[in-house]
Amino acid sequence: MNPAQLAPHDDAPGPLLTSGRDADVYALDEDRVLRRNRDGQSVLREAAIVRHVWAHGFPAPQVFRAEGADLEMERLHGPTLLQALAAEEVPLREGATMLAELLNRLHRLPVPQDDLLTVGNADDVVVHLDLHPANVVLTESHGPAVVDWSAARLGSAALDVATTALLLAEVAADEGGDYSHAAQVLLVAFLAAVDTDPLPALDEAVRLRTRDSHLVPGERELVPAAAALVTRYAHGAHS
Ligand SMILES: Nc1ncnc2c1ncn2[C@@H]1O[C@H](COP(=O)(O)OP(=O)(O)O)[C@@H](O)[C@H]1O
Ligand SMILES: [Mg+2]
Repeated sequence: MNPAQLAPHDDAPGPLLTSGRDADVYALDEDRVLRRNRDGQSVLREAAIVRHVWAHGFPAPQVFRAEGADLEMERLHGPTLLQALAAEEVPLREGATMLAELLNRLHRLPVPQDDLLTVGNADDVVVHLDLHPANVVLTESHGPAVVDWSAARLGSAALDVATTALLLAEVAADEGGDYSHAAQVLLVAFLAAVDTDPLPALDEAVRLRTRDSHLVPGERELVPAAAALVTRYAHGAHS
């Protein structure tokens, strides 16, 4: 991260914790953070989903306030799963199982009845659509918890699983990259532990992923090879 990004803005509500792809996350105090969408996008749909999953006991931050682009929520304390994997504090297989179990559990929750959320198909469930190791915080008190619900909506479980598999496979497909081998191990173990076969939704996941305006050209080029890896490893896992 560029140190200049950490410099306080005039209108900063508190110290900047991280500045991710879409949002700035500020610490308000020990117990609360404020996540602010930089493009001003409303957080109302996201807040409705997070409140729903939290109320059903799913590990996510408690929401305190949602207004405009600001989401004020419980501050989770602990490293992200990505940090823990990189530091070898969590074995790859355990990290992969964690991701799979979080999705398995999310997809079993009751579907919220909320005007902000549209149901497309009868078998739609709550989907996160961006579950990867940097969006999991390993809390001491509540175990692994899921953050970054900005893409969440009602949709097919297969699309959610295909999206996570594709995100892992993009790192695996980057053969010269430092994490290629680790990501391949994560992908294979994830596919073995997840309940839903991603293959019926892989094409749609690829379409959504290639449409992502945040993808830099180097990443976009990895998507076809990543999809081929998902196809190869998912066949063994869900046949
Ligand atoms: N409720 C929270 N408590 C503590 N840290 C958080 C919380 N929400 C997000 N973070 C941290 O901020 C980072 C970026 O937030 P995230 O919601 O993932 O936004 P982005 O879309 O920018 O990735 C996360 O990877 C996590 O480290
Ligand atoms: Mg994130």
